[in-house]
Amino acid sequence: MFNDLSSTLALLATRRSGRPRDLVAPGPGPDQLRAILEIAMRTPDHGKLHPWRFVHVPHARRTEFAALLQSAYRAANPEPGRLEIEANERFAHQAPELVVALSCPTAGIKIPVWEQELSCGAGCMNLLLAAHAMGFAGGWVTGWAAYSPEILAAFGNPGERIAGFIFLGTPAAELEERPRPDYADVVSEWDGRG
Ligand SMILES: Cc1cc2nc3c(=O)[nH]c(=O)nc-3n(C[C@H](O)[C@H](O)[C@H](O)COP(=O)(O)O)c2cc1C
Repeated sequence: MFNDLSSTLALLATRRSGRPRDLVAPGPGPDQLRAILEIAMRTPDHGKLHPWRFVHVPHARRTEFAALLQSAYRAANPEPGRLEIEANERFAHQAPELVVALSCPTAGIKIPVWEQELSCGAGCMNLLLAAHAMGFAGGWVTGWAAYSPEILAAFGNPGERIAGFIFLGTPAAELEERPRPDYADVVSEWDGRG
């Protein structure tokens, strides 16, 4: 566990996503998953709206999830090829745990929807950090399924959107660092000009 400042910073500096298909057992147990989700909920949230929610897809429901993916895929692609069917099947069964993150903004109020969507993204990030702190890795992916009306109907309510499928587990191999942007490309000093 990370319990001093330097190890907390090391934790933040070393987090990496895992590719969902490379995440294997063990995944977080029920108590660990709850703790991860409780940390995800501790997220900046203008107006205390909690404009996000998380749906856990238990292992016992992965077969139904696969069937949902296949039928949603067929709704947009009536004659899917074998490779597409296999890819959907793999997606449904990969990684020990799966959480579907939903953005649930309220329109027409003082807090802009944009801010509510940012809060949802922050919640997903907190979820990944909590998983990393427990020694797991997470993979936050979207793909066609996140934008499918059939999949959304199975997980969300009207007006909600799928922010991502967050797969959790243990990386099958050590995660390699990936290129990061140059500091100067993304950080600058304001020169005071209006
Ligand atoms: C909203 C969102 C959706 C994403 N969807 C995908 C995806 O569908 N497929 C994919 O390979 N990576 C996707 N990514 C990127 C990965 O989650 C991850 O950021 C990337 O693999 C490297 O992440 P790291 O810097 O955390 O290691 C998505 C990221 C975000 C924020």
